[in-house]
Amino acid sequence: MSGLVSPTESLTIRLIPPEETHFLRHAVLWPTVPLSAQAQPYDASPTIHLGAFHSSSPSPIGVLTLVPAHCTCSPEYGVQLPKFAVSTEWQGRGVGGAMLAAAIQYAAGAVQLDARLDQRAFYEKRGFAALSSQTFTKCGPGGAGPPIEYVRMRRTRIHDV
Ligand SMILES: CC(C)(COP(=O)(O)OP(=O)(O)OC[C@H]1O[C@@H](n2cnc3c(N)ncnc32)[C@H](O)[C@@H]1OP(=O)(O)O)[C@@H](O)C(=O)NCCC(=O)NCCS
Repeated sequence: MSGLVSPTESLTIRLIPPEETHFLRHAVLWPTVPLSAQAQPYDASPTIHLGAFHSSSPSPIGVLTLVPAHCTCSPEYGVQLPKFAVSTEWQGRGVGGAMLAAAIQYAAGAVQLDARLDQRAFYEKRGFAALSSQTFTKCGPGGAGPPIEYVRMRRTRIHDV
């Protein structure tokens, strides 16, 4: 893994402890799963977490987790990128794109993620392709959320982020 990028002067992307991801995981991804249940078994080191910070906010406006290949059940697929969330009021303003580019550069190799079906085009635009046409559902931390449909996607290009 290599260094992070800082796309603009007012947006900084940096490493954060896992606890700092919980609020946005709860608010954006799984609002019906309690804040206290947002931790994941894979959150501990060597997993790392990226936070996007704007100069106007002390808390992260975006979070994304990078799980190294050797910590997953499918290491051949490279770094996994779960739990990607940008605060609702910041969505569609380039924060997520900058975070994904930072994660790809940091991973320095193949990256894989399970994309919510309604975000598939977002990832396709950034070089990801579905591994299969098969979709599947997940219900959030502890299986306590509503079923959401996903497709597994992978990005192998390491340039052009
Ligand atoms: C998905 C998410 C992380 C992207 O972050 P973001 O800050 O909104 O993304 P950006 O503003 O950088 O990118 C938006 C761009 O992608 C496009 N885009 C965003 N969502 C899209 C979608 N669902 N389908 C197609 N295009 C999409 C926008 O038109 C915009 O295009 P542009 O690059 O030409 O400007 C964020 O929207 C989010 O948190 N969504 C809710 C939670 C979620 O679904 N997380 C991902 C789980 S797999």
